[in-house]
Amino acid sequence: MSSITLQEVKENPQITAYIKKADEHLRSLGFTEHSFRHASLVADIARDILQRLEYPRHTTELAAVAGYLHDIGNVVNRQNHGHTSAILVSRILTELEVNYEDIATIIGAIGNHDEGTGEPVNVVAAALIISDKSDVHWTRVRNNDYATFDIHDRVNYAAKQSFIEVNNDDKIITLELEIDTEISTVMEYFEIFLTRMIMCRRAAEALSCDFQLIINEVELL
Ligand SMILES: [Fe+2]
Ligand SMILES: [Fe+2]
Repeated sequence: MSSITLQEVKENPQITAYIKKADEHLRSLGFTEHSFRHASLVADIARDILQRLEYPRHTTELAAVAGYLHDIGNVVNRQNHGHTSAILVSRILTELEVNYEDIATIIGAIGNHDEGTGEPVNVVAAALIISDKSDVHWTRVRNNDYATFDIHDRVNYAAKQSFIEVNNDDKIITLELEIDTEISTVMEYFEIFLTRMIMCRRAAEALSCDFQLIINEVELL
């Protein structure tokens, strides 16, 4: 039994194949980008959030691993992909002889990252929710035809910058977004992101922090 690192996970050929195929499957369904860029970014941000809140190194590494693997279940089906991801990850990490407690923490976080069913059941889950939901960015849109953009495409395309800031002294986690309002209105953003923002607030609370949302330099939450 051993612990697992983000580096080991990134070098695993089965995981690499699953992320690649999962993203191809989502592309065929018209979804935004969910490839190695999204996986790596969510891993880095989840780790960074816990590092800034001074969690032990072992916990921050688990957040990175959970972040990298959270969407792997899309290889099976988009529906309930968080749950499928957790089951796949459990099998893969068991084969890699990762210790069971770490697997339990990771799959609990992964199985709780999605809207509707996700709850910040542990600090790794909380960091994963915030990092995943903050990845809204124009580069994720794959539809090249603006005339056929749906609301998700518009909102992602309009998001020119997105930052997570963690203030450990004041215990505030801030999501700061820059939205091009010629492409999408702030209302549209809320229409699809309100449930995500509520999830982020609960996740921040699980980390003993307040959640703040700033769009175009205006504090909205
Ligand atoms: Fe997901
Ligand atoms: Fe994701």
